[in-house]
Amino acid sequence: MKIIAGNWKMNLTFDQANTLANSIKSSNKNEIILFPPSIYALKVKEIVKGKNIKVGVQNIFYEDFGAYTGEISAIMVKSMDLDYVLIGHSERRKYFFESDEIINKKLKKAIEYNLDVILCVGETLEERENNKAFEVVKNQVLRAIEGLNNLNNVKIAYEPVWAIGTGINATPEQANEMHQFIKEIINIPVLYGGSVNEKNAYELLSQEFIDGLLIGGASLKAEIFNKIIEIAELL
Ligand code: 13P
Repeated sequence: MKIIAGNWKMNLTFDQANTLANSIKSSNKNEIILFPPSIYALKVKEIVKGKNIKVGVQNIFYEDFGAYTGEISAIMVKSMDLDYVLIGHSERRKYFFESDEIINKKLKKAIEYNLDVILCVGETLEERENNKAFEVVKNQVLRAIEGLNNLNNVKIAYEPVWAIGTGINATPEQANEMHQFIKEIINIPVLYGGSVNEKNAYELLSQEFIDGLLIGGASLKAEIFNKIIEIAELL
């Protein structure tokens, strides 16, 4: 089984999100997951009802309730019957200063409420050029899972920062190598993310250690995302 996930990030108006959600194909073979902006998540969940498509949010805070203006919590997500949460996306690390410690707290909360999680890791271009990619990713993984022993609900997305939104995807070999490395640290499904499109999806998905794709830009166009869903059916 492959996992095809679309991270819509902070894109689309409500009407556009409805149209897109209505157009997404489902699969009996693979797991399809949508991460709309959280304010649209419940509506998207309603739209895909009965279609074998899961819906999640792109972030949570690590407390349950309280004076944390603007935040949403794992218990809220669970209480709305949403399935998944993304934790530690590089954009959260960069723009919202999420440290490994914060990510660890968020992961613990998500697991406490039995949410499925996609934990995102990945090195910057500078780190790769300085031969630090493996060390950085290892540290991100180990720090995120510190103190946790049940990771049944967790998947990892390897998203090299230099590949996100740049049109330069990691080569299938580069991704596969990192995925194998991650699986040696912790043997759970590992998705690849970073400039995935309908042209590179087949080769990426064909790699031994690539269990799925986390797609940004290409998940915003129904025909392209559906094409990738169809490609995954072939494997
Ligand atoms: P792009 O597919 O737009 O490069 O984004 C990848 C990503 O960040 C998914 O979480």
